[in-house]
Amino acid sequence: MKPLSLLSTLAHLLLASPLASAALSYTVLSATIDNKQLDPSEIKLERVPLGVGPRNGSTGSTIPSAPPTSLTSSRKEGHARRRADLDPRDGTHSTTSNWCGAEQHVPSAAGPVSWVHSIFSVPDLTHRPDYPRPQFAAAWVGIDGGRCRSALVQAGVSVQLYDDGYQFAWVWMQWWPDAAYNFVPFVVDPGNWLEINITAVNTTEAIIEVKNYNNGNVLLMTFKDGAPMCRAEGSWIMEAFYGSQGQVTLAKFSDVWFQQCEVRTQNGQSFGIDGAEIVYMEQPKPGTVQMENVCQAEEYDNANLRCYAV
Ligand SMILES: *[C@@H]1O[C@H](CO)[C@@H](O)[C@H](O)[C@H]1NC(C)=O
Ligand SMILES: *[C@@H]1O[C@H](CO)[C@@H](O)[C@H](O)[C@H]1NC(C)=O
Ligand SMILES: *[C@@H]1O[C@H](CO)[C@@H](O)[C@H](O)[C@H]1NC(C)=O
Repeated sequence: MKPLSLLSTLAHLLLASPLASAALSYTVLSATIDNKQLDPSEIKLERVPLGVGPRNGSTGSTIPSAPPTSLTSSRKEGHARRRADLDPRDGTHSTTSNWCGAEQHVPSAAGPVSWVHSIFSVPDLTHRPDYPRPQFAAAWVGIDGGRCRSALVQAGVSVQLYDDGYQFAWVWMQWWPDAAYNFVPFVVDPGNWLEINITAVNTTEAIIEVKNYNNGNVLLMTFKDGAPMCRAEGSWIMEAFYGSQGQVTLAKFSDVWFQQCEVRTQNGQSFGIDGAEIVYMEQPKPGTVQMENVCQAEEYDNANLRCYAV
């Protein structure tokens, strides 16, 4: 029954929210669900108003993701952060309060980013003891949003872990700072393998492709007139996003592998995880001001990144 009550909650939230007059628009070009081709003209994504988040654990709304809020220097290194010197193979990393993963800052000489890709596993969650419930995790692929603060184009999956252990996963896309869009018909479960392509047509237009290898669900869509991207970064990220009640708690999760990580540029150059900035995440321990490391990432090789809960 949970997905049904979730859908009615979503519908309620959408009806209750004023229609946005954002310039951003989307077009679904094709979608295949349950081996059936849907009629694109009948497909509507659910816009999740900014600031709407989990309410008492009863909604599956995607909460808009924002660029990381609190980059600090690596504690392990004990010196001021020198981004240019970061080398993940040395174990150096940055720390944020909402992101964990890798950000590839493409040298400007390589030209603007045109494509980012990965095939990754949907997080499979267990409760983080002593932290408030419900708990969540999101995993996504994106362009910009790290050093580039003007836009972040991202697509991925969020998973909510209910008190009884039930997990609900949903696929979404967002062109930050605009709201997120959920693609409700897309069926996705923890442990499934998702492939995501984000193609930057130019600074304000992108094509997003999502495929679930476990059930063949596919979505192909475009976003137009988004906030201008820098087209300077590609990223593979796990996140504890923000909702109306504040930031969600990052659940524990079995290792999430981002495979075939690649970012290409208009000049035809290709980059993976080598040389990317590795980002860890901390969240405050409940009832204290003490920050606790909850998610770390490590490069396996240039194509593969492992994110793991701690
Ligand atoms: C959450 O649940 C409590 C108790 O059931 C209720 O009083 C409150 O209004 C709920 N809050 C939201 C945002 O739904
Ligand atoms: C981006 O590309 C689309 C499609 O070719 C075009 O309609 C639009 O004007 C372009 N926008 C910019 C800012 O170049
Ligand atoms: C992603 O792009 C690659 C390379 O063009 C392609 O082979 C693959 O089928 C695409 N995946 C999806 C889900 O569209």
